[in-house]
Amino acid sequence: MTEGAVPGAAAFRETGIMIAKPPSSMAGSIAISTGDAIIDADHAAFEVLIDEASTADDARLGTALARLRRHLVEHFEQEDVMMAETAFPAAVFHRGDHDKVLDRIDAAIADNAMGNRRAVRAFLEDELPVWFVGHVATLDAVTVHWARTGLLGF
Ligand SMILES: [Fe+2]
Ligand SMILES: [Fe+2]
Repeated sequence: MTEGAVPGAAAFRETGIMIAKPPSSMAGSIAISTGDAIIDADHAAFEVLIDEASTADDARLGTALARLRRHLVEHFEQEDVMMAETAFPAAVFHRGDHDKVLDRIDAAIADNAMGNRRAVRAFLEDELPVWFVGHVATLDAVTVHWARTGLLGF
């Protein structure tokens, strides 16, 4: 998808803040680049996993949620290393946002185990994509920019 077709892309260029809700089908649809090839590839893989979980039938939903969680834990560890190596000033805040979303995924896993699939699907189709776009456009983008330039602003 071209940059111009991404909802909110123009607003993001103007303000640095992504304000539009992403589409529920996300694979390949969010063209936010942090500029770090490894992190961006991880983010693209995460989009695919969200799509897989969103479209999984009830029997496969638990496995899909577990894959999502595992991917995020490994990805967050990579960002932790980047923050530690570059002494990122907002590392505690950034890690806190990671912890919050892992807590939400754990809640979704618990909801799924209790058969509350409506809550799980709402989380996957609405809350998680919105969190992802906002997190990448702000904390991840600033972290990569800091690692490359030693500057917090854009
Ligand atoms: Fe990230
Ligand atoms: Fe992050």
